[in-house]
Amino acid sequence: MSDSVGIIGAYSNEARSFEPSAAFRAQARLGRLEDYQRLYRESLDSPETFWARETAELSFRSPPRRIVSGGFEDARWFEGATLNVTESCLDRHLTTSADKAALIWEGEPGEVRRLSYAELHAQVVTLARALRSLGVRAGDRVVIYMGMVPETVIAMLACARVGAPHSVVFGGFAADALRERIRDSGARVVLTQDGAWRRGKVVELKRTVDEALSTLPEVEHVVVYERLGPRHAPIQLQPGRDLTWQELHGGEASGAPEIVGADHPLFVLYTSGSTGKPKGVVHSTAGYLAAVHVSTRYVFDLKPEDVFWCTADVGWVTGHSYLVYGPLSNGATCVMYEGAPNQPDWGRFWQLIERHRVSILYTAPTAIRAFIRQGPEHVQRADLSSLRLLGSVGEPINPEAWIWYYETVGQSRCPIVDTWWQTETGSILLTTLPGVHAARPGSAGLPFFGAEPAIVRVDGSPVGAQESGLLTMKRAWPGMLAGVWGDPARYHAQYFAPIPGHYFSGDGAHQDADGYYRVVGRIDDVLNVAGHRIGTAEVESALVSHPAVAEAAAVGRPDELKGQALVVFVCLKPSHAPGPALAAELGEHVAREIGRFAKPDDVRFAEALPKTRSGKIMRRFLKDLVAGQAPRGDTSTLEDLNVLVQLQQAEE
Ligand code: WT7
Repeated sequence: MSDSVGIIGAYSNEARSFEPSAAFRAQARLGRLEDYQRLYRESLDSPETFWARETAELSFRSPPRRIVSGGFEDARWFEGATLNVTESCLDRHLTTSADKAALIWEGEPGEVRRLSYAELHAQVVTLARALRSLGVRAGDRVVIYMGMVPETVIAMLACARVGAPHSVVFGGFAADALRERIRDSGARVVLTQDGAWRRGKVVELKRTVDEALSTLPEVEHVVVYERLGPRHAPIQLQPGRDLTWQELHGGEASGAPEIVGADHPLFVLYTSGSTGKPKGVVHSTAGYLAAVHVSTRYVFDLKPEDVFWCTADVGWVTGHSYLVYGPLSNGATCVMYEGAPNQPDWGRFWQLIERHRVSILYTAPTAIRAFIRQGPEHVQRADLSSLRLLGSVGEPINPEAWIWYYETVGQSRCPIVDTWWQTETGSILLTTLPGVHAARPGSAGLPFFGAEPAIVRVDGSPVGAQESGLLTMKRAWPGMLAGVWGDPARYHAQYFAPIPGHYFSGDGAHQDADGYYRVVGRIDDVLNVAGHRIGTAEVESALVSHPAVAEAAAVGRPDELKGQALVVFVCLKPSHAPGPALAAELGEHVAREIGRFAKPDDVRFAEALPKTRSGKIMRRFLKDLVAGQAPRGDTSTLEDLNVLVQLQQAEE
């Protein structure tokens, strides 16, 4: 990316550093470097003392015997503790802040709903009773395929209330992808909604569920929340299987929290890996809760009066950790927005901030770059004086976007935290702390409490000063994934086998002279397109499921707006001829198989793909090719150098 031009280009601001203002520092939870250093040391040297103190306000029914035990891969956090996360996220606030807004929601067409902690609690209890009356028991998986409405948060918390691990599937996934996730999780209950608004159009969620379930008779119950009603999103209810949210009732069932052990799975969230099918990343109860609770409080300097807006969809981990569990366990007021940033126009985000007096905004670089294109007027028209802190997540933020975010949105007075983490890490692991550290554009910063990163070479040896390498973790942290659903071998193979003694993130990184971590991006076959994590293997398998395709390879190309654009190379079966119509059809095919967000930006036809002698596609060369560079590195393993030459000629 370093040699591209324009808004993701020039790294001229790389060396700049932005100190928090004296005013911010004075009111911050942590305002001195010594405090960070002392707490960080304590989190590594005496994790018992650190985590016990920092989680003291959470609701445990019985306290942990030990804070951390076991090895790295099988670390157990808060062993012996019993709890239900909803007691920390809801019940515990009822005595102090029952009437405080837990959730402020805006629908895309403009409706506003406000749910107090008491109301959110009541709705969660009601749905928990209904789930129990449907036969959902602790340990049963429940798939949630919904949009950005309060009911989705209620659904997640109701599952947690009854001890049923939820598996939220992002509403942008298509029927096949949804089916695969429901099947893998073994869920018998699916919670969905009739439709959601997106850019003024209806996304027909229930219809997609019907399609997914047409070959999945194992699902016993589908519960449909009617967000839009029959005028916009008519639905068909399958008798015996489907019922509406509005007609649910708890019967005799209890709404009491199911008290579970510390390592009871809280949720399964599917994410793309470098090979094969998506993995069900499992997060357990106590460690995850502790990690998101403590990180929300310190990274966002959260105070009781803050209004926190995380723009991520609940279908991704950011929505889980920093729209739902972290802010609610801290008793914060969260903002949730249903629709697109340009609805009705590009001023929507800024008006929303003004309307609800948002004080903390947490969004993605791809969104920031989209705003830059629209010009500063949209931002400048709104009163953003309520903002005091900005966050970035999901992909590396290019310094130009960082500076724009800082100056135009933050009016040069709000610190920015660039937070690095993953579905697997559960919580933020690299960041600056806003009252303590100077921020540097393009640099995630320093390790958060409990994280011990190491940048290593492929043989596990540490890199030299400022040298690039693989980003790993050297010890377990509380938010660490507890496994891959149904596939312990893959858990080991993916995360621990590559670099023995380390957790392998899949990212490349280096440290600057002051120890700040700069994450460059994925070095494995995982793409990050507009902040969406997409496995090349998934795209390729979607392509080869088309009758015309013999073979396919997917790679990322640097893109000004999306960070990476998705380019696919397709070899056709002999009876098919390349052409623009087929290219368009193949793009649509991928969108239908996976979801629109995975639709290739560019479909190219090739006679053959570059491969190693063992038959592995050398995506690295294709990546160089689409970036307009000569292939770097060793070409001696290429089975047929001619393939590469042909591809290059086609390019010219
Ligand atoms: C991948 C994880 C974790 C929340 C959303 C994404 C990239 C994430 C940053 C950042 C540079 C980042 C990494 C990581 N990433 N945050 N601040 N700087 N890269 O979760 O879908 O599991 O994706 O997103 O490449 O591995 P995810």
